[in-house]
Amino acid sequence: MSQSQKCTYQTACELSNVRLIKHPLIEHKLTILRDRETDPFQFRMLVDEISYLMMFEATRDLALREVSVHTPVAQTSAYKLATKIMICPILRAALGMLDSVFKLIPDASVGFLGFQRDEKTAQAEFFYAKLPADAAERTAIIIDPMFATGGTAIDAVKFLLKNGVKKIKFISIIAAPEGLHRFSEIYPQVEVFTAAIDERLNEQKYIVPGLGDAGDRVFNTM
Ligand code: URA
Repeated sequence: MSQSQKCTYQTACELSNVRLIKHPLIEHKLTILRDRETDPFQFRMLVDEISYLMMFEATRDLALREVSVHTPVAQTSAYKLATKIMICPILRAALGMLDSVFKLIPDASVGFLGFQRDEKTAQAEFFYAKLPADAAERTAIIIDPMFATGGTAIDAVKFLLKNGVKKIKFISIIAAPEGLHRFSEIYPQVEVFTAAIDERLNEQKYIVPGLGDAGDRVFNTM
């Protein structure tokens, strides 16, 4: 999309790699999450619950392998995951999403990606990464509650590709149309799952209406 064309909810919904997850439970929880009166304890619980529900959707196409299982009654064939997963939380706000993901895939590895937002430029600076040794063999699921300018997402995907990772998905609770467009132009093959596509970014590159600074609200550092 050219600079002069407007990125909107509608244009972002039409991007072929964007998956907007609509569910009444998510919608309800998201409303409480956005509310500025919601305290950090409840905020953390809601991030955890919404991430859990989103993860369920984002893992729908994971490959399975056939196995044999003995039930107390008989032997039967059944299925287990054939895909090795690496969850990549973008520090620090995504730490609030990590537990829920682990609940669903307890044997996933974690590859931490550290980016620090410079509040003056709104640019994210890369400062830390720790990937498992077999990262290149794993499907990476990057988690970050806020998908704002798309800059961090682009850098995170670039870093994983450079490290040999072939399959990457992204889960973000709230996204801005501008960020989704920018990201999708560069990485149209990477699916982005989000529970909301908001109106726009403000001058400080915060999502409007959004929920404020997700890291501050998770970690009570307002
Ligand atoms: N990061 C946040 O925590 N909130 C925003 O609105 C944008 C980036």
